[in-house]
Amino acid sequence: MTVHFIGAGPGAPDLLTLRGRDLIAACPVCLYAGSLVPEGVLAHCPPGARIVNTAPLSLDEIIAGIAAAHAEGKDVARLHSGDLSVWSAMGEQLRRLRALGIPFTVTPGVPSFSAAAAALEAELTLPGLAQTVVLTRTPGRASAMPEREKLAAFAATGAVLAIHLSIHLLDKVVAELAPHYGADCPVAIVWRASWPDQRIVRATLATLDAAVGTEMERTAIILVGRTLGAADFDESRLYAADYDRRYRPVGAEPRFPEAS
Ligand SMILES: C[S@@+](CC[C@H](N)C(=O)[O-])C[C@H]1O[C@@H](n2cnc3c(N)ncnc32)[C@H](O)[C@@H]1O
Repeated sequence: MTVHFIGAGPGAPDLLTLRGRDLIAACPVCLYAGSLVPEGVLAHCPPGARIVNTAPLSLDEIIAGIAAAHAEGKDVARLHSGDLSVWSAMGEQLRRLRALGIPFTVTPGVPSFSAAAAALEAELTLPGLAQTVVLTRTPGRASAMPEREKLAAFAATGAVLAIHLSIHLLDKVVAELAPHYGADCPVAIVWRASWPDQRIVRATLATLDAAVGTEMERTAIILVGRTLGAADFDESRLYAADYDRRYRPVGAEPRFPEAS
């Protein structure tokens, strides 16, 4: 018996990996984390599968459910939204499973920041403007932030920020970022990226408040940085006609002659 942790993607059911889909289809038990895991993904569960929404359960209750499946010899598909590497609460579950000697696997998913960038048709790292994306959040009731992980500290680098779990604190986010990025810095908010009711607002730090209006939906990513909507950026050297590289040797004395 194995517990398969699977990133269920940002929302669109077809943004699930083939491996994830096949594992879900093979597991007689499916535990999924709340409303961010779409029904279209759950539709891959086999007929008669035990399907449990873990949103109202405590960690003890979730582990008890997994242990019960383990005792029955039934594989479990454990679904979390987006990818499992960020804000999935997978770490604490794996620690318990290791202690109990219950085997598991981990299958990645499409993270919501990627789906948001795709919705914006944006490459977040553009030559000469920004080469780093910071996935971060602001403090919440359930999770404090380490003292040094202030938005302002990340903003001081000029990196693109992908701010999760923070749409309800938009005013504070803007106030903290504006001194570093400038009031004219582009911002985009994507609500429910890849869902049928996806919504996008593009603005600057100065105009964001008016552009957002009274939107109350909480599932949103705030993207901030100079690459958003930029048209004036350098081209990558990688594809420059005179750039000598292993797969495209250039010049009389290429650096990797054996590849030619
Ligand atoms: C608990 S975290 C889960 C993050 C997830 N593991 C991931 O890889 O993106 C939930 C937060 O992720 C963001 N999020 C998740 N799905 C989203 C979507 N489809 N569109 C926009 N933001 C989303 C929101 O900031 C939301 O508050």
